[in-house]
Amino acid sequence: MKALVLSGGAGTRLRPFSYSMPKQLVPIANKPVLAHVLQNIKNLGVREIGVIVGDWAPEIADVMGDGAQCGTRVTYIRQDHPRGLAHCVEIARDFLGDDDFLMYLGDNMLPDGITSIAEEFAANRPTAQVVVHKVPDPRAFGVVELDADGKVERLVEKPQQPRSDLALIGVYFFTPAIHEAVAAIEPSARGELEITDAIQWLVANGADVRASEYDGYWKDTGNVDDVLECNRHLLDRLGAHLAGDVDDASEVDDQVVIGAGARIVRSRIHGPVIVGENTVVEDCEIGPYTSIGRDCVLRASAVSDSIVLDRAQISRVQGLRSSLIGRDATVGTGDWTAPHHRLVVGDFTRVEVAA
Ligand code: G1P
Repeated sequence: MKALVLSGGAGTRLRPFSYSMPKQLVPIANKPVLAHVLQNIKNLGVREIGVIVGDWAPEIADVMGDGAQCGTRVTYIRQDHPRGLAHCVEIARDFLGDDDFLMYLGDNMLPDGITSIAEEFAANRPTAQVVVHKVPDPRAFGVVELDADGKVERLVEKPQQPRSDLALIGVYFFTPAIHEAVAAIEPSARGELEITDAIQWLVANGADVRASEYDGYWKDTGNVDDVLECNRHLLDRLGAHLAGDVDDASEVDDQVVIGAGARIVRSRIHGPVIVGENTVVEDCEIGPYTSIGRDCVLRASAVSDSIVLDRAQISRVQGLRSSLIGRDATVGTGDWTAPHHRLVVGDFTRVEVAA
């Protein structure tokens, strides 16, 4: 079995981050979403992974390399433009050969793992097996309708009036029969080759298409609030590891990870919190639920429920929360005598300041 990971999308809902980095590299608990994805695939015993990449190909290859860090072998497959999930299968045809494969959307987090679902597919080997999750409002997803025996009857992409509460999550298991289906379908109204149409084609042609329900934690990390929520969820499982220096004037809770070379000075760290390598935290109150990247400098600030990316600097800001601070960003009160705000922010940035 091989795996096909899709990381070609534009990530418009994650602006302004997606102007300067692919959404699949946004760190959650200090590890890129894509690294969590590869780890999950490796846990299934699958090593050969094709990664579909778009314009961010160099940045993704820079961070993920040949996949060896995650114990996998990655082959990059370039997509010229996001033309749909089924188009990804089409351009990966040579890589996939005649193997069964698992398709995994590169921005989906399933930290509880999908081992039992993979075993179900291997044991029964239906033509295709989709993974579904009950959601309160399925209109933003592909929606699956099942018959009384649990076989897939119908799939509809983002219906206005969903006829079930089973959303398709971003993991699919296929036998090579999917290639015939992909070749048979036409682009949808939005001009994309939809994987839901290809699976529907299999159903219409009498194939055995099944659905497995995933009842663990699932998040499509498409926007800032979802990224922060997922960060909280992962940090809840954090252990304790203090590789860096914590001075005597600091207090650090149990669920805290401090990376090598990091320094915590006169600060209070309320776990769960993760601090990356070589980051300096001085006179701060950090956490709970905060991930701080590497080589950051935080001084005289209070930060909770947030993600701070590598090399960011924060000084003299109290009450910073539910924030996502980008790489090399500077956030501070400045040396002004009269109180005022100075902002240098890019397109689609969101800033909320106290009155
Ligand atoms: C895609 C699929 C959709 C699925 C969703 C899960 O949508 O087309 O069927 O429910 O992923 O994240 P997208 O997020 O690309 O709009």
